[in-house]
Amino acid sequence: MGEIGFLGLGVMGKAIAMNLLGRGFKLVVWNRTLSRAEELVEHGATVAKTPAEVIKKCKFTMAMLSDPAASLSVVFDQGGVLEQICSGKGYMDMSTLDANTTIKISEAIAAKGGAFLEGPVSGTRKHSESGQLIIIAAGDKSLYEEVLPIIDLMSKKSFFLGKVGNGAKMKLSLQVIMGSMFNSLAEGLVLAEKSGLDPQTFLDILDIGALGNPLFRRKGPPMIQGDYSPVFSMNLQQKDMRLALSLADELLVPVPVAAASNEVLEKGISMGLGDLDTCAVHLVAKAGKGSF
Ligand SMILES: NC(=O)c1ccc[n+]([C@@H]2O[C@H](COP(=O)([O-])OP(=O)(O)OC[C@H]3O[C@@H](n4cnc5c(N)ncnc54)[C@H](OP(=O)(O)O)[C@@H]3O)[C@@H](O)[C@H]2O)c1
Repeated sequence: MGEIGFLGLGVMGKAIAMNLLGRGFKLVVWNRTLSRAEELVEHGATVAKTPAEVIKKCKFTMAMLSDPAASLSVVFDQGGVLEQICSGKGYMDMSTLDANTTIKISEAIAAKGGAFLEGPVSGTRKHSESGQLIIIAAGDKSLYEEVLPIIDLMSKKSFFLGKVGNGAKMKLSLQVIMGSMFNSLAEGLVLAEKSGLDPQTFLDILDIGALGNPLFRRKGPPMIQGDYSPVFSMNLQQKDMRLALSLADELLVPVPVAAASNEVLEKGISMGLGDLDTCAVHLVAKAGKGSF
């Protein structure tokens, strides 16, 4: 396959790229903020000046960007993917996006003769580093089959869901649950804390009962310790809820629990917590009723 392209070196993109470099792949990388590529260069990656330059050099390029605006900009703006994509080249966007965005990107790439896959992921930076993500792909089936050996190295399991848009819709349906779970954990924990109970005992009881799960196990301790350093930022979780609420609206699906969770995330962002981890919803609950 030769060199592989990678656009977007944030928390997830950098970790995925490091995993691929560690497995012997040659990468050409690009990031809006160039300094974020330094560690990858030390591990052998080549840096390009624009997304177009990456596409020109590589037969297959992946992207991991924050939101629809970022993904559209990287494809459609000057120096973007569209300038060099052509027949024989493939592009996979792994960002969490809405279906309208992935369809728009897919159509533009197809019009230039290129092949497109959406591939949102489930998992964290740690899963990215160790190649243990879950990849929810959809779009060009031939491209999926061609790049499956790479997808397999990034994931413990991948799914191919058919036409473009299905991957985005599946990911957003899952994110509705995640947004609500963060808030449920924070609310229960603060209720126990304000009742004068030991928060660690609360987590211990939670974990061994029917409500125990990996998310609570991972996010409970940092909430207690007040460690809100970003693993999955509140801004990104709110972006996912916003896109999911819009999908629900389109399909006339009532999602009052998700809507309430979104309100909490918006409140957290208005309190200046957006760049912190989503587990900082704990601070919103702690701020008390008056803050709403
Ligand atoms: N973090 C997680 O645990 C997790 C888990 C599953 C899925 N996701 C999804 O994965 C995606 C990436 O998440 P992340 O945590 O890696 O985010 P992140 O650390 O905030 O990184 C975002 C990336 O997007 C780039 N970007 C933002 N706006 C841009 C623009 N207008 N033009 C070009 N590049 C732009 C950033 O470039 P700069 O460096 O220049 O800012 C950075 O490379 C998101 O869609 C997120 O919802 C995240």
